[in-house]
Amino acid sequence: MKCKKCGAKASVNMRQHKLALCKEHYLEWVPEQAERFIKKYDMFTHGDRILVAVSGGKDSLSLWDILVRLGYQVDGLYLGLGIDGGFGYSAESHRLAEQFATQHGLTLHVVDVEKEYGQPVPVLSEMSHRGQGKPCAVCGLAKRHEMNRVARDLGYDVLATGHNLDDEAAVLFGNTLHWSGDYLVRQGPVLPETPGLARKVKPLCRFYEREMTAYALLRGIEYIYEECPFAEGSTSIYYKEVLNRLENDRPGSKLTFYLRFLEARAEGLFAEQGGRAQELHACPNCGQPTTAPGLCSFCRMIEKVRGELRAS
Ligand code: AMP
Ligand code: FES
Ligand code: ZN
Ligand code: ZN
Repeated sequence: MKCKKCGAKASVNMRQHKLALCKEHYLEWVPEQAERFIKKYDMFTHGDRILVAVSGGKDSLSLWDILVRLGYQVDGLYLGLGIDGGFGYSAESHRLAEQFATQHGLTLHVVDVEKEYGQPVPVLSEMSHRGQGKPCAVCGLAKRHEMNRVARDLGYDVLATGHNLDDEAAVLFGNTLHWSGDYLVRQGPVLPETPGLARKVKPLCRFYEREMTAYALLRGIEYIYEECPFAEGSTSIYYKEVLNRLENDRPGSKLTFYLRFLEARAEGLFAEQGGRAQELHACPNCGQPTTAPGLCSFCRMIEKVRGELRAS
């Protein structure tokens, strides 16, 4: 395979785009594409202050790298979840996020869930009896709450996450299997800002996971290879496997699935299902907008854990 741009030996072959590129041209192509998507979906401009949530994995570290290379004002946020899994998952991902920030002279904000709320995520999960023995539900709740909180408290306009096409297609697949109109209507590259919540964007949503792996490796970004130890056996991994089988037989089908969905959504296909306006009010404890009556789900979870502690 030869690079389409210069004829040198190709490093990355993307069957789904019928495109092969050498290292140098691949490392140019990725930020060019990212810039195209940022503009196409009106994600942000050079005047915006962006906070990128970095997990220490390939996607979010590559995203940070790409946004810096494109000249955006972007700081990082690492959330310490306190997950060990026998190999220090959180400690190692924290180390790698710090290392990237130091190497590039960037600002990384760090929030440790245990320091803020007294217990690491797996203990919060156990004590609040949510999520059938797996901490993923509480983890998701904590990540969302803390990202929103830090973005608001530190005055960022935009919160960016490293979700890639494989992530988005898997979520879409699940939402479609269940015909979850409320979720479908909100799933997209941009979630607009509301009072008290920064805009949320996913600049990598059109990149295949393997494109991001190739980018991180060719850029020499050191990232954590291991998945979260609790991810094993999850529905989202199963959906990814199913979609990969489809993609393998029909290159490009994952991208088509996602892009056709975005087109249908833009034409209002799911507007009716999602049209029931949800009543939002500010959580009396943290001030974040919520549909739940009284406290938001995160504050309710923390309350419950504190109650358990008082009782024991
Ligand atoms: P996940 O929910 O693990 O698939 O991760 C999706 C995105 O959430 C990542 O690409 C990051 O942008 C962000 N994220 C996940 N874990 C963390 C973390 N511990 N700290 C900061 N951001 C995170
Ligand atoms: Fe949160 Fe796995 S449980 S990253
Ligand atoms: Zn080339
Ligand atoms: Zn709250």
